[in-house]
Amino acid sequence: MSLVVTALPGATFGGLVTAPVNASEIVSAAEASPVALPSLLNQFNGFLLIKGMSGLEDEPELLLRLSQVFGTEVESYHETRMAQQNVHPEIPEILMVSNIPPADRKPPPQPDPPHTADGCLPTQFPHRRGWHTDQSYRRPPPDASLFFCVVPAPKGQAQTLYANGIAAYEGLTPEMKTRVNSLVGIHAKPGVGRGEVAVRAGETPMKLGPGDQPQRQPVVRVHPETGAKSLYLCEAGQMDWIDGPFVDMEPGPDGEGAKLLYKLMAHYTKSEFVYVHDWDRGDLVIYDNRTLIHAATWFDAARFQRLMWRTTVSGNPGAEYAGEAKSWVIP
Ligand SMILES: [Fe+2]
Repeated sequence: MSLVVTALPGATFGGLVTAPVNASEIVSAAEASPVALPSLLNQFNGFLLIKGMSGLEDEPELLLRLSQVFGTEVESYHETRMAQQNVHPEIPEILMVSNIPPADRKPPPQPDPPHTADGCLPTQFPHRRGWHTDQSYRRPPPDASLFFCVVPAPKGQAQTLYANGIAAYEGLTPEMKTRVNSLVGIHAKPGVGRGEVAVRAGETPMKLGPGDQPQRQPVVRVHPETGAKSLYLCEAGQMDWIDGPFVDMEPGPDGEGAKLLYKLMAHYTKSEFVYVHDWDRGDLVIYDNRTLIHAATWFDAARFQRLMWRTTVSGNPGAEYAGEAKSWVIP
């Protein structure tokens, strides 16, 4: 059975897989034609939604097999020192993003104020915080992530927001394109005292080992398969606000670099570039970290449980990273 994908309703990018309709058939179809699904991911600007993957929660190895279609390496979260309680007990390539014990991932806070003036969910930076691309604090960074909903929070909570970096780059003025084309960002792991909030609060940054150092990344990434250019940026929590956020620009939270990052992130997260995904049980989203950023939203974790599984796929970061050793593995 071949894969059928249509444009994602309600979005300016992305594809919706409409056939086959169950998890094992989709995995079989993807494995039988291993370039099909990655090609469709490229065709639909790095975002695919597959609904009704029910049964996957009973066969987590299907998620691993599907992930392997998208790249040569699926991250083992044991090797990357992820807290054990957030890793699937049988499949170390599955991260459990959950507040269900023993997992202990807390949702982000609500934006301040919680809604826009017209009562909508805020999506644009800086009203919406937390925009990032997975693990940009590593070189080479990962290619794609697969995100599966095992237990959803109630509708209207715990949405995931995605923004299209290709359209955001194309939407820049010619002058701004020229300005960012050779710009380099400095990305830092969240929670190490180098993000905007920590720096403004005067926190002492953590002493980082050689495998956890902030990493430089091009602000404009060229997709290795399509050649498309996209904005490759995170907002304040995953950039380095001590030495950055940009190389060769005035550093720090009030520097010229920070002003430019605020401007670029506000542009990147305009509503025309953003898709809001409200999760149903059995939804699987495949997103390309080279071309999209995303952000989590709040849910009432005191009242509700939520369980998501995530895999992270690597292997084709592009010419920028050719032959490079993993920054987080120290021999
Ligand atoms: Fe993420």
